[in-house]
Amino acid sequence: MLRQPIIVVLGHVDHGKTSLLDKIRQTAVTAKEAGGITQEIGTTEIPTDVIKKICGNLLDKFRIDISIPGLLFIDTPGHEAFTTLRKRGGSIADIAIVVIDINEGIMPQTIESLNILRDSKTPFIIALNKIDRLQGWAESATICCFCDNIENQSEDVKGDFEKIFYEITESLESKGFAAERFDRIKDFRKQISVIPTSGKTGEGIPELLAILAGLAQQFLKDTLVTTKHAKGSVLEVKEVVGLGTTIDTVIYDGTVHKGNYLVSDNTVTKIRALMEPAPLRDMRTEKKFQSVDEVSAAAGVKIVAPGLESIVAGSEIRIAGSEQEAVQLQKELQKEKEEVEVKTEKEGLILKAGTIGSLEALINIFRQHPIREATLGKISKEDVIKAEANADPLFRIVIGFNVHLLEEAETFAKNKKIRIMMSDVIYRLIEAYDKWAGEEKEAALMKGLEKVTRPGKLKLLPGCVFRASNPAIVGCEVLGGIIKPGYKLFIASKTVGTVKQIQSEGENLEEATISDKVAVSIDGPTIGRQVNESDTLYTDISGSEYKKLREHEKFLTEHEKTVLKEIEELKRKNDPMWGY
Ligand code: GTP
Ligand code: MG
Repeated sequence: MLRQPIIVVLGHVDHGKTSLLDKIRQTAVTAKEAGGITQEIGTTEIPTDVIKKICGNLLDKFRIDISIPGLLFIDTPGHEAFTTLRKRGGSIADIAIVVIDINEGIMPQTIESLNILRDSKTPFIIALNKIDRLQGWAESATICCFCDNIENQSEDVKGDFEKIFYEITESLESKGFAAERFDRIKDFRKQISVIPTSGKTGEGIPELLAILAGLAQQFLKDTLVTTKHAKGSVLEVKEVVGLGTTIDTVIYDGTVHKGNYLVSDNTVTKIRALMEPAPLRDMRTEKKFQSVDEVSAAAGVKIVAPGLESIVAGSEIRIAGSEQEAVQLQKELQKEKEEVEVKTEKEGLILKAGTIGSLEALINIFRQHPIREATLGKISKEDVIKAEANADPLFRIVIGFNVHLLEEAETFAKNKKIRIMMSDVIYRLIEAYDKWAGEEKEAALMKGLEKVTRPGKLKLLPGCVFRASNPAIVGCEVLGGIIKPGYKLFIASKTVGTVKQIQSEGENLEEATISDKVAVSIDGPTIGRQVNESDTLYTDISGSEYKKLREHEKFLTEHEKTVLKEIEELKRKNDPMWGY
């Protein structure tokens, strides 16, 4: 039997994912959402007879003969849930729609979505949305097909549309995605279909559905064949008055019966009820569910059973007919879990996630970094202890994706100064980590420079000797770099003394830099003997300090770098191996 392909909608924030789905099902979910942002994940089934009605003669035009029972859509808040909505080794989506606002073009999250799809080898099409907002675009009360309505547009508008369309496909091309207008595609396997749409007027939706159905029909038939063994993914764990803890799931294979055993890696329980939303309704808005005896893939279904509290959203579930089978299936799920988890004793990051899919995604996104452990479950004190075992400060951190933090772990981490970084948005984690690691590195480097003598150059001003020795006090001009009390000074490779104090208008200064005219007291020399009026002195940097300065060159100002070069030349005149 063929099941409905599962279609996930993703793309940049506000590009119109929910509106497009809304338009498809003609209900106004957007209006009911707080702030118009998708807060939850829901599924919507569009049965084939409805698709046929919407598409009309388009199906004939594209020579599509639908034998799939319909399409099952999942809306996602941003693209993020998609990363968690993974079954082992892939995505639960059979096809994805990437929504791009034609007026905004490709945005960071668009690229991320495209990359996720490419990585997980999920076929997708692009909805170039909000075409109704194009300058001068004429809407039609009767026409819903893009191909018909484009003919209604003025030559100017047509030209503008082609220009923008070209720019967007060019930009996709430069990122490695060959895309083309759906009605100009030569090979659907090699090119990505772009369908201009409007979530406001509904224009393009017939084509969108026709292409989705056609692609599924043509290229996915094998993966749409269902087996006896029911499998699913948990979208949400929800408390429902009168029912207790329930799970909203997508069943992507097999048939579930009331009374079957539900199996997750940590739970085995008997299904008390299966609640289904009616077709053309969304699980979110449909408060009254109807209880059914069985549900076949693909479908969104709310499962009622005792002991669902320990299940985490994003978990994989299996359905068993007997308790014996359930035990066997649970073993398999636990084995999968062990296969994904990473446990080593080497230096590296501690990663935590709630589900196998999200752990896989987390490991994948941190693949450029060493990983000490990547495990499932809440962040515990043990995780913090493992992070503490890392010597490298850049690994003294626990990173959690979509997980809870136990209180004792939080307190312990605070005491031990171990960083805990958590987010439900996987890309924020990698960004935040890289930023934090960068700052830590800089701070460590800066710290390394604190005790090092910086390059500095000063000239004794003629006629400004206030005292000849013990200490010598002279008016000086800083010609470059930095001078600080405590720095040794040299002239022509000989150390002449140590800066005792720096003063300007009777005030002690902590440092003097380029162009400052200051009075400097120097312990050691006698003016007129080791040093003369008008002499130029440099800060006396040791060979090892020089090496450190070169390693941290980016912290030096341009004039410090110039002075350092001069010091290097002077020093090497005397000792060619200085600083090597
Ligand atoms: P998130 O779920 O927050 O990522 O956003 P989304 O992609 O689901 O966008 P949503 O559907 O909530 O639309 C965002 C805004 O754009 C809303 O104000 C919509 O009314 C508007 N909008 C969406 N599609 C269209 C369209 O095709 N034309 C016009 N004119 N407005 C649209
Ligand atoms: Mg939305």
